[in-house]
Amino acid sequence: MENEYKSAKYYDKSLHLFVWRIRKRVLQIVKKNQYKKILDVCCGTGNQLKLLKKHGIEGTGIDLSKAMLEIAESGKIKVNCHEQDAENINFSDGLFDMTMTTFALHEKSNSSAKIILNEMIRLTKNNGHLIIVDFSIDSNTFFLAKSGIKFIESSAGDDHYKHYKEYVASNGLDTLLEGSCLKEVEKHYFAFNGVVLKVLEKI
Ligand SMILES: C[S@@+](CC[C@H](N)C(=O)[O-])C[C@H]1O[C@@H](n2cnc3c(N)ncnc32)[C@H](O)[C@@H]1O
Repeated sequence: MENEYKSAKYYDKSLHLFVWRIRKRVLQIVKKNQYKKILDVCCGTGNQLKLLKKHGIEGTGIDLSKAMLEIAESGKIKVNCHEQDAENINFSDGLFDMTMTTFALHEKSNSSAKIILNEMIRLTKNNGHLIIVDFSIDSNTFFLAKSGIKFIESSAGDDHYKHYKEYVASNGLDTLLEGSCLKEVEKHYFAFNGVVLKVLEKI
């Protein structure tokens, strides 16, 4: 994973155009729901948490990449992040009003993504929310978005790309969420229908 994220210092700049509208929508949802305790699972450089903090909203992040965490802990706005494995998170059950993960599940094997999702469910209080942002590649996705996302993913390392292809082939987030105790509250599409943001309630 360290190899994949060696380029951490360029990560936010290179993805800014692609993600800024999505980050802003997450901010709007957080403001609307007034979550008090927020956890960003696989927070990377803390880019989303930094945007929340800029608007006076505190959150906590966990990630395994030292390179990504260094960025999260530097710059004008620093965020509170911990080096932890998303498959075995060291916080107590139901501690958070909202747990989120953005652009992380697609790069994991199906079994790892399921474990991470179950960890998020465990850490979210009853009737609390999960926010998941990830690729959504299907017949509604514009051709250019499909090709662009495929290009980004194929440049991100062999395992990453293999898992992305498995994620797409198995119908992505919809399959991962099947049979979970989560009710969809809101859904938004971005990047010419190549990305979906789901707000889910733990029931
Ligand atoms: C594509 S990046 C997304 C980062 C961030 N959420 C964003 O939206 O920019 C995926 C992140 O997941 C982290 N990650 C992957 N597997 C992990 C694990 N098992 N535990 C914690 N973090 C993990 C990587 O280190 C990386 O920072």
